[in-house]
Amino acid sequence: MNTKIIYLDENKIDESQIKIAGEILHNGGLVAFPTETVYGLGADATNIEAVKKIFEAKGRPQDNPLIVHVADFENIKDYVEEVPYIAEKIMEAFWPGPLTVILKKSLKIPAITSAGLESVGIRMPVNVIARKLIRAAGVPIAAPSANISGRPSPTEVKRCIEDLIGKVDCIVGGKSCQVGVESTIIDCTVDPPCILRPGAITVDMLKKFDERIYIDMAIMKKPEINFKPKAPGMKYRHYAPNAPVKIIQGDLQKTIAKINEIVQNYVDDKKLVGIMATDETICKYLQGQAVSLGSRKDLETIAKNLFETLRNFDDMKVDVILSEAFEETGIGIAVMNRLKKSAGFDIINV
Ligand code: TXA
Ligand code: MG
Repeated sequence: MNTKIIYLDENKIDESQIKIAGEILHNGGLVAFPTETVYGLGADATNIEAVKKIFEAKGRPQDNPLIVHVADFENIKDYVEEVPYIAEKIMEAFWPGPLTVILKKSLKIPAITSAGLESVGIRMPVNVIARKLIRAAGVPIAAPSANISGRPSPTEVKRCIEDLIGKVDCIVGGKSCQVGVESTIIDCTVDPPCILRPGAITVDMLKKFDERIYIDMAIMKKPEINFKPKAPGMKYRHYAPNAPVKIIQGDLQKTIAKINEIVQNYVDDKKLVGIMATDETICKYLQGQAVSLGSRKDLETIAKNLFETLRNFDDMKVDVILSEAFEETGIGIAVMNRLKKSAGFDIINV
């Protein structure tokens, strides 16, 4: 398949190019596009054949439901059975933005999109290209992250091209994604609502609307065999670069010492080691390829750089990636959730 690549400047969007990409979506094609979280791979959420192509292009398991993206509030009511009061308040507060709300689905959403569930995740992205594209398509857009299933999500257009060229009709490129981790998912079909995936809209921000809102803690732990998470996608090995990832967690000085000790062992074996470090610690690693994700105090920047750093280590062809752990507060909960999954829960406590 010949993939059309369109580059857009978010400050000066070429509407004729948006129209072309929108028509591809309207006619059942696949288009990758930027959002504020990660790049998405879109198709008409109401078109069974189009949605099938998303699963094929990504190599995605069929039991993993897709999030439906809309551009305007009035579009939601057609796709859901009901909007509970608390969901309405949360949507008003955080949309457009990096939040997905799970609601009871209407018959307009086919079973393939929701992977047979009675519910559907709806998200209204804030990214201007995403919004214009959804409007131009004139249909709701099912969009998982635009990566081959299992790989770290793309936050740069070059990563979409790497994973999807020849497999999709069109790739729309914008800036690198601001947030860097996928949207927070909150299930509003249950009372109290439950966070199924942490993201930039944090539990503390959501608790302001109902203090009973909580994070499903099962997602932060290594899944047991036969574990059935409430967000089916959370059970797969995910966000994984080619090299194995190990997290070193605990006191910072002990972490640095432990990482240096492990690096030495790998270097003795002539192996190339990637180290995910921070501004405060990078100078302590004298061997291996150390990269700073940002300051330990700036968890937003660490989130933004996480997936791209993992992919960069693959480009460097490192044999193993050692990562410091980050504070599990605010967006740091999302960072550690993704990092633990990318490591397959291989954590060394110091
Ligand atoms: O930020 C994002 O949400 C990005 C961008 C592209 O918008 N999209 C994204 O989609 O992360 P994806 O497919 O990579 O992750 C969707 C997650 C999966 O873990 C899936 O199981 C869960 O959402 N999910 C979707 N619909 C659900 C539902 N009805 N009930 C429970 N979990 C659901
Ligand atoms: Mg994904």
